[in-house]
Amino acid sequence: MRRRDFLKTSIGLAVSSTLISSENIKTNMNNSLILSTWDHGLPANEAGLKVLENGGNAMDAAEAGAKVPEADPTSTSVGFGGLPDEQGNVTLDACVMDSNGNAGSVAFLQNIKHPVSVARKVMEETKHVMLVGEGARQFAVSQGFEEMDLLTDESKKAWEEWKKKRREMTPHETHDTISVLVQDKNGDLAGACTTSGWAYKLHGRVGDSPIIGAGLFVDNEIGCAAATGLGEEVIKTTGSFLVVELMRQGYDPTAACEEALNRIIKAHNGNPDFQIAYIAIRKDGEIGSACIKGSFDYALARGEENKLHKIKGMI
Ligand code: GLY
Repeated sequence: MRRRDFLKTSIGLAVSSTLISSENIKTNMNNSLILSTWDHGLPANEAGLKVLENGGNAMDAAEAGAKVPEADPTSTSVGFGGLPDEQGNVTLDACVMDSNGNAGSVAFLQNIKHPVSVARKVMEETKHVMLVGEGARQFAVSQGFEEMDLLTDESKKAWEEWKKKRREMTPHETHDTISVLVQDKNGDLAGACTTSGWAYKLHGRVGDSPIIGAGLFVDNEIGCAAATGLGEEVIKTTGSFLVVELMRQGYDPTAACEEALNRIIKAHNGNPDFQIAYIAIRKDGEIGSACIKGSFDYALARGEENKLHKIKGMI
């Protein structure tokens, strides 16, 4: 039996079918879960769980979760305290997507602590999907967001050290984007993704995190997926969309993450020198994850438990 057919059979699909539709996947009901990237996913999940307990939906929980590392000055790759670009500006990218296929996004946003909430406002209060730079900042202010300096003493010091040593455009290892995927008690899916991006990047650089389909994708019939790592490569392969589409084709969530990464690994002759990880939830509550190299931690909250899980890289 071919791998793909095996995967289809293993989740109860007719081998002859090509694509999965919602009727083929039993929706996970009354068993909400939150799946987030890296160890800052643990407090993010905690915040999301509280929102779900208080009757919030998947989108409310994903936003609340993403806001935790955004506000944490020790989280150097997200929001306040995020490492700046080469000119010393903290520039932020974020997006959200809900169970109805609505999406909102901000890119290259400065001086606003919670880009994920601005992205949600773009989704809910405008006819657009994406606002960038000065326009995004003006919109945020018009919505009541306060402006603040996002550079902390520590991140300023790190940037000054980097400048002194005239380092190359690294480390992209510090791409610890927070992506939060949620399935609520109604079985509905939503996600949020937020980052300060590649440390010491060129001024104006935008990564995958605000790009719908790259950093995040939600299809309430099939599942959702999100990325962390070197955004340029995720954008080039429309990574999160690809993971969801692979699940639609019958891949289980981990196999879908691996196949999406395989395309990147192949494009780099089997030996890429950067990290990317995907996380995914299928509509039936099955979760999956994969990373290219080294290891990757994801935080999974399900029932009473909120735990960090370590996976090994594919190469
Ligand atoms: N994945 C985050 C970034 O590349 O900006």
